[in-house]
Amino acid sequence: MSDNSNAIESVLTETRKFPPPAEFTKHAMISSEQQYEEMWNRAKDDPAGFWGDIAQNELDWFQMYDSVMEGDMPETKWFTGGKINASYNCLDRHLLTWRKNKAAIIWEGEPGDTRTLTYQQLHHEVCKFASVLDKLGIEAGDRVTLYMPMVPELAIAMLACARVGATHSIIFGGFSADAIRDRNNDAQSKLVITADGGWRRGKEIPLKATVDDALADGKSPSVEKVVVVRRTGGDVSMEDGRDLWWHDLMEDAVADRECTHLDSEHPLFILYTSGSTGKPKGVLHTTAGYLLGTMMTSRWVFDFKDEDTYWCTADIGWITGHSYIVYGPLANGVTTMMYEGAPNWPDEGRFWDIVEKHKVNTFYTAPTAIRAFIKWGDNWPQQHDLSSLRLLGTVGEPINPEAWMWYHKTIGAEKCPIVDTWWQTETGGIMLSPLPGVTATKPGSCTKPLPGVVPAIVSEQGEPLEANQGGLLVMTQPWPHMLRTLYGDHDRFIETYFSKFDGKYYFAGDGARRDEDGYYWVMGRVDDVINVSGHRLSTMEVESALVSHESVAEAAVVGFPHDLKGEGICCFVIPKGEIATGDALEAAQKELIAHVRQQIGALATPDQIRFTAALPKTRSGKIMRRLLRDIAAGRESAGDTTTLEDYSVLASLRESDEG
Ligand code: PRX
Repeated sequence: MSDNSNAIESVLTETRKFPPPAEFTKHAMISSEQQYEEMWNRAKDDPAGFWGDIAQNELDWFQMYDSVMEGDMPETKWFTGGKINASYNCLDRHLLTWRKNKAAIIWEGEPGDTRTLTYQQLHHEVCKFASVLDKLGIEAGDRVTLYMPMVPELAIAMLACARVGATHSIIFGGFSADAIRDRNNDAQSKLVITADGGWRRGKEIPLKATVDDALADGKSPSVEKVVVVRRTGGDVSMEDGRDLWWHDLMEDAVADRECTHLDSEHPLFILYTSGSTGKPKGVLHTTAGYLLGTMMTSRWVFDFKDEDTYWCTADIGWITGHSYIVYGPLANGVTTMMYEGAPNWPDEGRFWDIVEKHKVNTFYTAPTAIRAFIKWGDNWPQQHDLSSLRLLGTVGEPINPEAWMWYHKTIGAEKCPIVDTWWQTETGGIMLSPLPGVTATKPGSCTKPLPGVVPAIVSEQGEPLEANQGGLLVMTQPWPHMLRTLYGDHDRFIETYFSKFDGKYYFAGDGARRDEDGYYWVMGRVDDVINVSGHRLSTMEVESALVSHESVAEAAVVGFPHDLKGEGICCFVIPKGEIATGDALEAAQKELIAHVRQQIGALATPDQIRFTAALPKTRSGKIMRRLLRDIAAGRESAGDTTTLEDYSVLASLRESDEG
């Protein structure tokens, strides 16, 4: 099990409980325990009836489906026979209502420039770009890579892809050229949409140059064209016949592109995420189920009001941005904020400045950001009027109770419920979360399953465990917004999520326990995935990057508790030659750090490189990661190279223990 002992200790002793504020409950959409239980029980006992009623009432269909769900998990198909389009449901249908001139997206760039797009204006842009996609020969089913900054054009491109039925594959701007190349090739993308650059802490991130590198020398042979948004105005080279400016294409485009009528199960997007092997997995989500799931979960969890300004601070390059900046809020006709840059630019008060300026009502962020705010000091939020805030959320990693309390007091003024939402790229939408008007919260617990989610805590053998016994988190029933496959590798999909319990359960990869009140406490990953600043990384991916360097013979990578990042990256490296010392040691460490950044991206920057002559292994040759985690965390006499070798003796003693 991945070690998260600090988190486990604190959540085991947590007894504080915060009932939802009466004022909030009075106006909440779901406002009583009984209402929640009725919904939850109906969804469990009659999922087809429950989801079918909602799908009929809440989604707009070109053709009604024949059946709500078909087949058992993992092969369940949803709303088969139906024809639908996500772009229609996020845009066109709102134009028939008073929301036509409501702000859909309020965008703030890092330098302080802002743009507001009403539903009508967003629709106009999306229709135009959809016709551009037509012109570029993009057809339903084609894959399109998006490597873009957080600018409105990113949302426009996504919704335009959805409109014509192209499957988007968004790559977070922190990934390297090599990572883009791999994803282009895996998805066989025909088109890449990017920008000259994006702003981050006052510096220009050279996105187009990185794309050029990913495409150079025929490295991404499927890619035919590159569309470039002008954002920073920086110098870029444009390759004749391949590269096209967004603004040139849009100038002649006509805004009359109707939505393509797509099957419910048409692939909406691929999003690559890290698994326990070195190769990223292309999680595939399909149209109707995903849209329904993100629409309803965001409505229940964020208790949307028509006058809300809702802000999720994630980057759209991650699932949180897909589901809770774009698809969920827009399907509900809500005003969603988008911010381009860093939370500490030009100063550490930037987020609170945005909250005050735009009168943000709901604020959804990650524990890693909260820990940074705590470190920066209360002075920053205190300089701003945060009284517009009504509801706070967190996502991405376990939140330590003290960070939860700080969020509650300093940001929420003890009047805003906190929704700690547990979910994954694969689940598509929120699975476990308080309902803000109903659920009494306990700091550090993501509380209870949403309607339609039937989790269990089981042993390694798949036996259900009693309250307060730590075990593995599984889902026992399918839900509409679950992943359908790993792109191009259905066997790996079955193997990763369903083989552990003979196809009976979806295995999330997290360890958790349920307490005596039925509340869930998620402890962290049980596989070789680490969570660095809320970003998921595979230790194997970092190992592969390290061993691809000419000087490395072998490498083992583990996470360790990190005050700000949640987990840091510690690399144990056996060099091919002698272990360097002094200045040469520092240079060798720097070189490997740069190499990992080049192979994967800045988000995988190692915190520690420790050279060693040997790695502790079992007799069968398996690296004893638990031991390495202890050393990285400083739990045993923090290892210099000699102690590490000593551990290899210990290793053989503990062989049976480690399997
Ligand atoms: O370990 C869990 C952790 O993040 C993992 C999923 O990562 P990713 O697919 O990148 O999606 C992150 C955003 C949805 C999970 O397996 N995780 C996510 N949310 C929480 C969490 N751990 C504890 N509490 C949470 N609220």
